[in-house]
Amino acid sequence: MRDKIVMVTGANSGMGLATSTELARRGARVIMVCRSEERGKIAIEEAMRQSGSQNMELLIGDLGDLDSIRRLAAEYKSRYQVLDVLINNAGVVSLKRKLTKHGFEMQLGINHLGHFLLTKLLLDRLMLADQGRIVNVSSGAYKVGKIHVNDPTLKKRYNIAKGYAQSKLANILFTKQMAVKLIGTRVTANCLHPGAVVTNLGVDRNTGFGKRVYTLLRPFFLSPEQGSQSALYLATAPEISEVSGEYFYRQKIQTLTPRANNMEDAQWLWDWSEKQVGL
Ligand SMILES: NC(=O)c1ccc[n+]([C@@H]2O[C@H](COP(=O)([O-])OP(=O)(O)OC[C@H]3O[C@@H](n4cnc5c(N)ncnc54)[C@H](OP(=O)(O)O)[C@@H]3O)[C@@H](O)[C@H]2O)c1
Repeated sequence: MRDKIVMVTGANSGMGLATSTELARRGARVIMVCRSEERGKIAIEEAMRQSGSQNMELLIGDLGDLDSIRRLAAEYKSRYQVLDVLINNAGVVSLKRKLTKHGFEMQLGINHLGHFLLTKLLLDRLMLADQGRIVNVSSGAYKVGKIHVNDPTLKKRYNIAKGYAQSKLANILFTKQMAVKLIGTRVTANCLHPGAVVTNLGVDRNTGFGKRVYTLLRPFFLSPEQGSQSALYLATAPEISEVSGEYFYRQKIQTLTPRANNMEDAQWLWDWSEKQVGL
């Protein structure tokens, strides 16, 4: 990965931190995107220590805030001409229905829309890479998801499974539609399920609620380092340089359920997302 520049979102915790550390260890310049400067600084120090690389930079960006994403993309573009790999990893899961700054249901807003805007804004830099890659971290939870075209921000009958699964299905449909748009270019877009991994996902930072569940399940779950293998594979493997629009688990292409192969929904989501983010 020497001479390659990789951006990782949600880089201060869980798989984002593990992915950033390993890519730095393999010689890439790693741009760690975090929403909190404080948590980001602690994480980048840890990543530098563990990887033995100083070739890392912290950029601040909140994926739940479209203005912040625009600032983040502008800052990146003012410093770098090329982006080799964008790993859209940041994610949230929420028991209660919460909204982003611009009024989107939080999981769709952060997990999908924030990354949709970031990717679109950085696409010209990815196009300038020898072989640009977009890696979207989805989840097997997509299987119970549905795109609620009449109520995408889930004003009616919200529940956590409905919200999280819709956002992770959106990651896949975005990947597939993006891959169609990228035909004829050197840029690929793929997505993945990392497995069940012990991270901070769903853990309440103030109360610690959720930690105990992971403690109980730890023997059955992967570590963040193990969980990051799929993203690392999609970001680096030479043999998939021409593979695009696919969903991977354990480094293998997986067959998707009909809803995740529904290109009408993918087109609808793309058009809706463009409108929401003002593109
Ligand atoms: N863990 C699993 O079993 C599992 C399974 C399938 C898929 N996934 C997916 O894997 C990805 C990584 O999650 P993880 O399990 O490693 O969880 P994690 O430890 O909670 O990491 C999530 C990261 O996303 C960041 N983030 C959240 N909201 C953000 C925002 N508005 N702007 C910028 N960054 C934000 C978090 O930052 P803060 O620390 O500031 O909150 C954190 O760095 C997610 O997309 C998740 O859906 C996880």
